[in-house]
Amino acid sequence: MQSRRTTIALALCCTLGFTIFWPILGVIVGKIAGYIGDGNVQAIAQLMAWSAGIFILRGLVQFGQDVLMAKAALGVAFDLRTRVYAHLQTLGATYFAKAKTGDLAYRLTEDVDRVGEAINKIFHQFVPSVLQLIVVLGYMVWLNWQLTVATFAIAPVIALSIGWFGERLMGYSRRSQERISDLASFVTEMLGAIRIVQSFAAEDYALQRFSTEADRARQIKFLTAKTQALQFVVVGFLEAMGVLLLFFLGGWQISQGNLTGSGFASYVAGIAMLIDPIALVSSNYNEFKQSEASIDRLFELLAIPPDIVESPQAIAISHTKGHVTYHNVSLTYPDSDEPALNQISLDIPASTTIAFVGSSGAGKSSLVHLLLRFFDPQQGKIAIDGRDVRDFTLASLRHQIGIVPQDTILLTGTIAENIAFGQMSYDRDQVITAAKIANAHQFIEQFPQGYETWVGERGVNLSGGQRQRIAIARAVLHNPRILILDEATSALDSESEALVQQALDRIMEDRTVLIVAHRLATIRRADRILVMERGRIIESGTHDTLLAAGQRYAAFHAQQFS
Ligand SMILES: Nc1ncnc2c1ncn2[C@@H]1O[C@H](COP(=O)(O)OP(=O)(O)OP(=O)(O)O)[C@@H](O)[C@H]1O
Ligand SMILES: [Mg+2]
Repeated sequence: MQSRRTTIALALCCTLGFTIFWPILGVIVGKIAGYIGDGNVQAIAQLMAWSAGIFILRGLVQFGQDVLMAKAALGVAFDLRTRVYAHLQTLGATYFAKAKTGDLAYRLTEDVDRVGEAINKIFHQFVPSVLQLIVVLGYMVWLNWQLTVATFAIAPVIALSIGWFGERLMGYSRRSQERISDLASFVTEMLGAIRIVQSFAAEDYALQRFSTEADRARQIKFLTAKTQALQFVVVGFLEAMGVLLLFFLGGWQISQGNLTGSGFASYVAGIAMLIDPIALVSSNYNEFKQSEASIDRLFELLAIPPDIVESPQAIAISHTKGHVTYHNVSLTYPDSDEPALNQISLDIPASTTIAFVGSSGAGKSSLVHLLLRFFDPQQGKIAIDGRDVRDFTLASLRHQIGIVPQDTILLTGTIAENIAFGQMSYDRDQVITAAKIANAHQFIEQFPQGYETWVGERGVNLSGGQRQRIAIARAVLHNPRILILDEATSALDSESEALVQQALDRIMEDRTVLIVAHRLATIRRADRILVMERGRIIESGTHDTLLAAGQRYAAFHAQQFS
């Protein structure tokens, strides 16, 4: 920030220097016009030599101004973009459930560009133009104030017309951005669902919907273009009229003896120097109006509060034993009136395995997510080694916990990078050791590029079982005290299930494990099994005691093994 201020200050110095040259050029034009009238070639040549020097100096400060202003503007846009991205990462599941990723991507790219563009224009065009206007106008008033007053009688007319166009363009711009953002969301969604589109042979339908959306975007852009075109015509016409009026009045002032021919030449040069900055200021004004919409959209994002707020007194947790307790925990999601978890109390001693079973929607995932603080419960508390999880910093808490989710998300990059996900730098040997524990080493070695094989977008396709073993290797490398397995072995054929199960058995050793599974075979050896229903724990025991009890667990079991 400090260096940005210095850059801006330096750039402004260059701008000031650059501005001083305008009246000097006015004087030169006036003098040359006079020498031309006298036919004084020697004086003209001398003045030309001086002028060349002046132009070189002026070029230098102009270059300094342009480069420094661009540097400052791009820097500010970079800061803004990084800040918005960092903020997005703090937002919780509730926000992302409703947010459209296409729209968010648009804000981070297009909207920030627009704002950056506007800042660039402010530094690079607006401020210099306004300075130039002030200095040149001052010079003109000094030359002949009557002429200046008369000439600028037309200025309010120009200003009013610019304002009128600006209002309209602002409205169009807001609508146009909404439509482009709708289009981006549509594309993200449809391409994400391309399999469904193709398998229903619904390409024509999708294309139809796409072109309707695209056409709406086109229409509003065209309206903007037409309005802008009209604006250039109207404002340009008014300016031309001003110039004609000036010649008439100039002739009149000379005839009255209030002005010399050479003075009038300088005055006309002054007018010419005003046209560019006036045009720039007016077009900048419209662009600022347009970027206001982008600024609103960005600040609206920054104003969304994160679901989870870290306490200012939070401490970093380092070596946990892994003793997890839930005390009377209840959770109700926003927009829902039924609690997803209802007065759950649990004690999971360190290094034991606890399993959760129950029908879909029973609250199993919600229960394990609470430990990671994806949400905070409205009631009750969750503790690790007797200490409330809210006392810890989020990052240190989550470092203690590893999760192998049902769907492994692979990011664009190599297999090694995916296993070492989240680590700024990693040790190659550790990655391989982790992959071996996860039963992934063998299949990775079979790819021609081994650990450097590209996965994610445009990469190789991995099977469900292979992806899951990568996720397990990730968790192994992470080496958490507490491990969460949410349906980690669902949707696997029995061979890969055996491989995955073997890998899981290895990493479950000597850790506290919370495991969610539909397949009862995977949890048979758990120290304790909890059966959940509608946010409550309805049964608890070991595999054998639960079977013997002959209740819900026994019924599930009978269903799966009949
Ligand atoms: N982010 C969320 N926002 C709102 N409601 C949610 C959210 N996540 C889950 N729910 C709701 O909470 C209830 C419990 O969901 P949860 O995902 O914990 O069930 P589950 O037992 O893991 O089910 P499954 O076996 O299908 O994974 C469900 O009614 C679900 O609709
Ligand atoms: Mg679940």
